[in-house]
Parts: sequence; structure tokens; C-alpha cells
Amino acid sequence: MFQSKIAGIGYYVPKNVYTNEDLTRFMDTSDEWIQERTGIKERRYADRLEETTTTMGIEAAKVAIERAGTTAEDIDFIIFATLSPDYYFPGCGVLLQREMGMKEVGALDIRNQCSGFVYALSIADQFIKTGMYKNILVVGSEKHSFALDYSTRGRAVSVIFGDGAGAVVLQPTTEEGKGILSTHLHADGADAEKLAMYYPGASGGKWLDNKPSWPEQELGGMLMTPEMLEDGTAFPFMDGQTVFKKAVVKFPEVIQEALTKNNLRTTDIDMLVPHQANLRISQFVQKTLGLPDDKVFNNIQRYGNTTAASVPIALCEAWEAGRIKDGDLVCLAAFGAGFTWGAALIRW
Ligand code: ACO
Repeated sequence: MFQSKIAGIGYYVPKNVYTNEDLTRFMDTSDEWIQERTGIKERRYADRLEETTTTMGIEAAKVAIERAGTTAEDIDFIIFATLSPDYYFPGCGVLLQREMGMKEVGALDIRNQCSGFVYALSIADQFIKTGMYKNILVVGSEKHSFALDYSTRGRAVSVIFGDGAGAVVLQPTTEEGKGILSTHLHADGADAEKLAMYYPGASGGKWLDNKPSWPEQELGGMLMTPEMLEDGTAFPFMDGQTVFKKAVVKFPEVIQEALTKNNLRTTDIDMLVPHQANLRISQFVQKTLGLPDDKVFNNIQRYGNTTAASVPIALCEAWEAGRIKDGDLVCLAAFGAGFTWGAALIRW
């Protein structure tokens, strides 16, 4: 049985900065409202046509691969987490493989939203442990800016999200006690509709109280109708208060689960890197766990919520800033749509 370690890490954020003030050009909002509720000051938006979820993932992957002392040729499996893929299908993993000139290795896309990266890391960890692969590229990337409602109608959701990508290369390690100690994954579909983008999709509105009016025809249908773009049902929906209430319970719960499994305590954590959902959620979790400021890393102020990319971007920034050192106990934790949530404990 092997243990896996993060051998290389990188991130990429687009150069276009949109401050809260910039958003007031499109919707009725204010810097004060956004900062008070979410902690966000600005976010990055990808170039509308030139940058995609895949291209941003590639930029992050290049850095991670180089830092791991490997080449794209050495990668023997790809896991790509995103909720904003370039295509409805196929996934971003195969596009990355093609564009980076990789070998015909397996490529898996993960659809687990904000906890997508933690899920992806956990899967990669299992493949390394069994000895099946030796250089797994794990990517989290999002281009949210393409599918947000920038009118006042969509403001409660749109102001929160930003674009970016993060990536790691996972390799086996023989260093005793180093690397990923354990991962913990959970889901509860009871509130699946509380944080979701219903269309385009094949549900036909089956699970929804507000069903769409489809064109009358015998066969087929439409994944999305023009009316949905008009009335806003084609954009992401969030019941913010339900998300908040669940997140502040499930984050600490899964972190405690990870610590207990490894006979560790909250005081053993050197750095908590939570999914950057909302600064208020992070602060609530920090308080519940009793962690001091220097043991929690937040960068949502500058990037907004980048969903599957948020954990690897934050982890990379924390490491680059010297806030994570050799031998540190690092805890990654995420919660998001599904609801799905998870944690990973890493001895750096
Ligand atoms: N600017 C100005 N006013 C706004 C905005 C905005 N961007 N958005 C909503 N408002 C208004 C509403 O229209 C409403 O006005 P009204 O009282 O006149 O009707 C008022 O502000 C309050 O709206 P609520 O939706 O009740 O706002 P709430 O106080 O719940 O805050 C928020 C919304 C910030 C989303 C909050 O519910 C929250 O923090 N939820 C957690 C969800 C979250 O962080 N999700 C992150 C993504 S999911 C994830 O990563 C897990």
C-alpha cells in the first residue's frame, strides 16, 4: 500500500479584475452590501471568448506539473473537477489531455461543485494507494462568468462567483507519515434543489414546483427554452440561508471526523484551507473550531467563490506565501451543491 503526496501545485486566475464597484454598472448592488454579506471585494472574470474552463485548468496544470518535476508526458491519469465545463459533453479532462499533448491516459470529470476538488483528490489518492497510477493530475477549474445573471434579478448569486483554476500532481511517497492521511466524503440529496442550475437539463422540471412550459411536440424537447433565459430560470439558483445553515454545521463536522480518524485534535491543525464559499461561513467555522486567524487561509476577498477551483487556489497561495511548511498538518474542507461535502487531512 502506497501513500500519496502533493508533489506539485499551481493555480491560474484571469487578468480581468471586476471590483464590487464595477458590478454596480450592471445591477443594483453596492460594495458595502457585498463585503458585509460575503467578504468579497473583487473577483476575476475570464476572457469571454479566448479563455475557457479547460484553458485555465491547463495554465494551472502546467505550473503543478513543472513543480512536481514531471512533464505532461508523465501524467498517467487526469481528474478534472468543474461545474462549468466547456461542453455539456465530453468533459474538460479529454480537452486538457488533447491540448497538453498527453498520452492516451484515462480522463475523468467530476461533477461535485464546491466539493469537487476534495472528491477528485480523494479518488486520486485511492488510485495512488493501490499502485495503479504514479502521476495523477487533479484539476479544479471554473468559468462562472459565462452563465451568471448580471441583472438586478440575479444579484444575490452573481456577486459571489468568480473564475479561476488550481491543480495538483499526486505521486506516491515512501516518507513515513507524510502526504494524504485520510479523505472523507459525504452527500445528502435532500436539498438538491436549494443550490442548483436546473437547465439545461433533462429533468423536464420533474423535481420542481415551478415547471417550465415546454413546446408542444410528440418527441424530444429542449434542454432550455428562450423563455427560461428571459425569466431567469436558466441561471443558477441559491437559497442562501439554507446553504449557510447547512454549511456551518457540515464543515466542522467533517473536519472533526477527519481529526478523530487520525487521533488528532483541532489544536494539531497548522493550516485549515476551507472552500472559499463566503467569508462569513469561513469565520463561523473558524470560531466553532476555535482556530486562531493565522491557522485559517482565506482569499475570497480577491477572487470570490471559484467553486471547484477555490481549494487548490487557496492551498497554492498559502503554500507560496510560506504559510504551509514541511511537516505541517493541513486540513482541506469543502461544502457545496448537492449538498456534498468532504475533507482531506495532509501531512505536508
Ligand atoms: N446587492 C444588494 N442587495 C442585494 C443583493 C446584492 N448583490 N442581493 C440580494 N440583495 C437584497 C435582496 O433583494 C433583499 O432585499 P429585500 O429585503 O428588499 O427583499 C436583501 O438584499 C436581503 O436578501 P437575502 O437574499 O435575504 O440576503 P441574505 O441576507 O440572506 O444574504 C447571502 C444573501 C449573502 C447569499 C446569504 O444568504 C449567505 O451568506 N448565504 C450563504 C450562501 C453562500 O455563501 N453561498 C456561496 C455559494 S455556495 C457554496 O459555495 C457552498
